[in-house]
Amino acid sequence: MNGIPRHIAIIMDGNGRWAEARGLPRWRGHAAGADAARRTARACAERGVETLTLYAFSSENWRRPEREIKVLFSLLEEHLKRELPELLREGVRFSAVGRRDRIPESSRRLIEEAERRTADGKRLHLRMAIDYGGRAEIAEAARRIAARAASGDLLPASITEETFAVEIGRDGVPDPDLLIRTGGEQRLSNFMLWQVSYAELYFTPVLWPDFDRPDLDAAIEDYRTRVRRYGAVTAGNFADPPGQPSAGVSG
Ligand code: IPE
Ligand code: IPE
Ligand code: MG
Repeated sequence: MNGIPRHIAIIMDGNGRWAEARGLPRWRGHAAGADAARRTARACAERGVETLTLYAFSSENWRRPEREIKVLFSLLEEHLKRELPELLREGVRFSAVGRRDRIPESSRRLIEEAERRTADGKRLHLRMAIDYGGRAEIAEAARRIAARAASGDLLPASITEETFAVEIGRDGVPDPDLLIRTGGEQRLSNFMLWQVSYAELYFTPVLWPDFDRPDLDAAIEDYRTRVRRYGAVTAGNFADPPGQPSAGVSG
């Protein structure tokens, strides 16, 4: 059995459908989704999860109507303002991943204030992916690596996976152990493409605003039963096929 995942990443999907099913405008789904995010962060802290990354706004979500985008950022700002005292009280470190140059200035200020004030939080690291795209993140790391190579700081031949891992994971966060997607779709939608190569994937039809503690616990329980092999073998009969010269290791 695995222990509690150190890092859980969540694609919070299904807000719009939740609202539609109730005959409500889509923004009401986003408002209910923000409550689910708060609930989930609290539950993760209680369960000893070290890092929680929530996908709040993708680099593709700019394709949505301007009114919806406005609501999403104003909800983010409202929640950041309201939650900051609790984050501080509970020892939660908040940070954002993604681009900062395209989001509203007022959101950026609040994000940076929350990052600054919660920097010493040790209990849970809550990361929000905002204007985030996995491919863009990899391309950006490649750009930084190329600049170092061009300046003579780095030999192209010495660039390895580790070089990328260091560039991408500059905030010292381990790769996610468990990736949850709510809302029933089974795709990554450009989320943490580099980091999820060995994450355990968990898809649930539960719409994000309905996601609650029992759903989180079900995902964690499922994760705990997964056998994480990383390409190796963990058990079996290793006898050689007939006529095969022994590799010198006995099974
Ligand atoms: C997820 O819910 C929230 C964001 C992507 C910002 P959606 O808004 O995608 O909800 P559905 O998928 O339309 O139900
Ligand atoms: C993924 O949800 C992005 C976030 C949850 C922020 P989308 O609803 O944008 O994904 P697609 O369009 O269904 O792939
Ligand atoms: Mg969606």
